[in-house]
Amino acid sequence: CKKYIPFQPIHLPDRQWPDKIIREAPVWCSVDLRDGNQALIDPMNLEEKLLFFQTLVDIGFKEIEVGFPSASETEYEILRTLIERDLIPDDVTIQVLVQARPHLIQKTFEAIQGAKNVIVHFYNSTSTLQRKVVFKTDMQGVIDIAVEGAKLIKELTEAEIRKSGANIRFEYSPESFSGTEIENSVLICEKVMEALGSTPENKLILNLPNTVEMATPNCYADQIEYFCRHLKNRESAIISIHPHNDRGTATAATELGIMAGAERVEGTLFGNGERTGNADIMVVAMNMYSQGVDPKLDFFHIHDIREIYEKCTKMKVHERHPYAGDLVFTAFSGSHQDAIKKGVDYMTKSGTPYWEVPYLPINPADVGREYEPIIRINSQSGKGGAAFVMQQYFGYELPKAMHPEFGAMVKTACDETGRELRPQEIFDIFRRAYLEV
Ligand code: KIV
Ligand code: ZN
Repeated sequence: CKKYIPFQPIHLPDRQWPDKIIREAPVWCSVDLRDGNQALIDPMNLEEKLLFFQTLVDIGFKEIEVGFPSASETEYEILRTLIERDLIPDDVTIQVLVQARPHLIQKTFEAIQGAKNVIVHFYNSTSTLQRKVVFKTDMQGVIDIAVEGAKLIKELTEAEIRKSGANIRFEYSPESFSGTEIENSVLICEKVMEALGSTPENKLILNLPNTVEMATPNCYADQIEYFCRHLKNRESAIISIHPHNDRGTATAATELGIMAGAERVEGTLFGNGERTGNADIMVVAMNMYSQGVDPKLDFFHIHDIREIYEKCTKMKVHERHPYAGDLVFTAFSGSHQDAIKKGVDYMTKSGTPYWEVPYLPINPADVGREYEPIIRINSQSGKGGAAFVMQQYFGYELPKAMHPEFGAMVKTACDETGRELRPQEIFDIFRRAYLEV
């Protein structure tokens, strides 16, 4: 089918576009199999994780956090299976999470033996709250934990590279970054970079989590901007963000975070993850798409992706979930149906290269969805809706003068049945009224 250019002009009084917009896709890292999985009532079993992994690869993810192999035997075995069955494409890097604790780091390195491309992601919590109530330590205490972890990881990596030539990169997360004094976040990350010997050729991924969404999107973005401006050896780091959705604003936080300087985003499909979930990568990516930016991820088969997600997580995608929900490309009200019909007509006649249909943010076909389910007829639908169904489903172009009469017949039938009518029922009304006389 014809591809239309997504087009949403932003009208501001003095200029067409705001200064800060997202111009290109960040590096995406899926944490579905780790943050997402650890939040499930029934974590995924081996088969489900492998299926989900393959789905992420098919969508185009090049970095995938596959688990926490030092946390349980199951997690360890899943990682070993991926490696031993050679299921990881050469252009995909697997990421493994570990706390900055020596015995867990050791176990993690055992688990990654034989993998070609790995990111070892280590973390410790740095927030004022956690320091006070959980760890009962000061900032120097958490810096020491991170630096000791970094030194051990460097040592084990050098040994592994000598042995197998694996490509091992590092990621460090000051967990609860947004609840940590910003100067301390910069300081701890600089110390970790020093300990790892990060260089522009061998960059450290610094992942800045908005754990429990402690900061509102605007404050989180300010923190990221400050961090990027003040970090020494900025060129030796990749700034990554890891927004959570506890305030329900993870999408906004992600988008503002990218505008503030983040180059990489961690999140999940449909926003699964701890508590209220992680940033929904599908939504952020499709939002970019709707603004004309290539997200470099392929959600054309959104229906299949959703099916696999629901099977593996045993959770449902909400009917109104952006881009993927059953109801998001429907219009129940008559005025919306009429406007959609006019938009579709305009596009056909004008040959515009842009998607210019009111009430449909993108062409549903761009996520593999069809026009057919867009218009449903119930008692609130206007006269244009029934005519639209006749045109779309049955190829009948009803003259405008017929719309009010036919619309009224359909409305009466809806009122009598008390439910929405299916296209075939609408056709039957038409047949009885006009074809069988
Ligand atoms: O939300 C969080 O802070 C995390 C870290 C372990 C990255 O998941
Ligand atoms: Zn998280």
